[in-house]
Amino acid sequence: MKAPDRQRSKGMLPVMTLAPWHAAVERALVRYEKRPSALIQILHAIQDELRHVPPDAVPVIANVLNLSRAEVHGVVTFYHDFKSTPLGRHVVRICRAESCQAVGSDMLAARARAQLRIGDHGTTADGAVTLEPVYCLGNCALSPAMTIDGEIYGRVTPERLESLLGALSRTGTVQP
Ligand code: FES
Repeated sequence: MKAPDRQRSKGMLPVMTLAPWHAAVERALVRYEKRPSALIQILHAIQDELRHVPPDAVPVIANVLNLSRAEVHGVVTFYHDFKSTPLGRHVVRICRAESCQAVGSDMLAARARAQLRIGDHGTTADGAVTLEPVYCLGNCALSPAMTIDGEIYGRVTPERLESLLGALSRTGTVQP
């Protein structure tokens, strides 16, 4: 099959490659005027809308921005914010940096993994929860700290963790 020429793909994404994620990718590219210098913002916009950057979108983005696939792939894989598979509907981040580690965050993370039955960076089978390590949330005074969908929780005890995760799994909200 003949590859689309670069000039044509600068305007519209080629019809033959349309996939469910194309509309989101096109919106992000248009929003940042297809500027190669806006690659990170474009990837963030795609990540925000799709909860990941589809690997198949990398060559499309590279083509439209006139960058190499390696350049785009390198950025996607360098920044932990960008995921190649969709994040869960809720994202739990447990701080693993020094202050939190000193007061038991590794144990909290182990409990979370066991309760959710996933590993670090994993997502539950129902797509409800993704568990991620994070390295300092700026809440060291209230260690150990964690976030759920960006909301910060401090001085988290194992019981509090279990309650929060249980409520999240049962009801999709942290309100027990
Ligand atoms: S080390 Fe955990 S919030 Fe700073």
